Amino acid sequence: MAKQSQATWGGRFSSGPAELMLQFSESVSFDRRLAPFDVAGSKAHSAMLAHVGIITAKERDAIHAGLDAVLAEIEAGRFTWSTQLEDVHMNIEQALTRRVPAAAKLHTARSRNDQVATDMRLFFKHACAVLSEKIRGAQQAVLAVAGRDGDVLIPGYTHLQRAQPVFLSHHLFAYLEMLERDRERFSVVADHANWCPLGSGAIAGTTLPIDREFTAKQLGFVDTKGRPRVTQNSMDTVADRDLFIEFAAACALFGVHMSRIAEDLIIWSSVEFKFIDLPDTFCTGSSLMPQKKNPDSCELLRGKSARLQGNLHTLLTLAKGLPLTYNRDLQEDKPPVFDSFDQTALCADVLAGTIAGMTVFRTRCAEAVADPALLATDLADYLVARGVPFREAHHAVGAVVKLAEKNNMKLDQLPSDEVRKLHPGFGPDWVEVFDLKRGMALRRGTGMPGPAQVKKQFKRWAKALS
Ligand code: ARG
Repeated sequence: MAKQSQATWGGRFSSGPAELMLQFSESVSFDRRLAPFDVAGSKAHSAMLAHVGIITAKERDAIHAGLDAVLAEIEAGRFTWSTQLEDVHMNIEQALTRRVPAAAKLHTARSRNDQVATDMRLFFKHACAVLSEKIRGAQQAVLAVAGRDGDVLIPGYTHLQRAQPVFLSHHLFAYLEMLERDRERFSVVADHANWCPLGSGAIAGTTLPIDREFTAKQLGFVDTKGRPRVTQNSMDTVADRDLFIEFAAACALFGVHMSRIAEDLIIWSSVEFKFIDLPDTFCTGSSLMPQKKNPDSCELLRGKSARLQGNLHTLLTLAKGLPLTYNRDLQEDKPPVFDSFDQTALCADVLAGTIAGMTVFRTRCAEAVADPALLATDLADYLVARGVPFREAHHAVGAVVKLAEKNNMKLDQLPSDEVRKLHPGFGPDWVEVFDLKRGMALRRGTGMPGPAQVKKQFKRWAKALS
């Protein structure tokens, strides 16, 4: 089974890896998607080698042309990937060497350890930008609903019990805040990714006179002033997997957010609530019950969030307890990261599509929010405004609620004299508190759901998301 080693590292081996070992240890089946980043890294590295005189300009140009040709082949789907060659790095290098003899010099002062760290940093910068845009798409869909139906009032909930009235827009703007924090997190991850590992070598750099800053600049690892950013410790550089964990954590937290949003939509679309209808295009039916319309996209968003959390957990567990520096365990870092990226991208699009297509049932919302109990706190505030300590006011309104329950009446329908007997603070105008418009207008502080605030927030988001 074992054969003479063909691998780039095969010099000291008398036998190649067993067939089973090849299958077991290959990563090309999943890391081939790093090809564009790997090629970019190799171009920058060879440009640097020419810059410091380790290779000639002619050799550099030949390597660049060869890399372009290999990448073109990969992108056209004509490249033959070989598991014998383990990973994306060796596949590309071997294909290049077959075309360009000078490619034998490409791996000078470089190891796959700093190479894969570089590829992944380039990947993370790209992935964060993609996800940020997709989440923004979901935010735009949310904002469009606020633009259409934002004037609708609904009960806000705590403990899934009706609490206080809010404009639907206010509820939707809460989603925008959550998603904005997600976007911020991805921009922080992208910034953390923005340091160039090349030059760290396998663990201890190189004896050759390379120019790390040159390579960093070539690859766009620069600060806002264009100054190169290179990692500061060769051992940490090849051992560090913080970014993988940070990226997966940002995806997992986005997952928690989308899952909570999805849950709201599931509840709102149930017959018991009927505040909204979800688009047919993102729902499915039952194979047995003809009447069913199930909120599957929302349920899957909720389900996918579990998967995103699992990926984060895999990475945390993978890295814990590993001795410095690189260990082959770390090859297992890529599948969870790629899965988190792919699923997050998909989920953000599905969230956007589901929200964009939802219909708000204005009448049902109006009926739900007409419940005067939602303004019981306002009645306590009314007493406070008349000099009653809040604890006492709370107690007095509690008695009003009890009376209403006993008589099976709505709060605002109780006989005025009965209510006024419960506390001397209740004036003849106590019932005016149940004017919903009045109650909303009074909520004018920053971050509150009053109409003036909601209008302001709408403008703020419209500007931010335009
Ligand atoms: N495929 C490897 C990985 O993803 C590349 C690094 C290999 N380094 C090594 N020393 N074997 O981790």
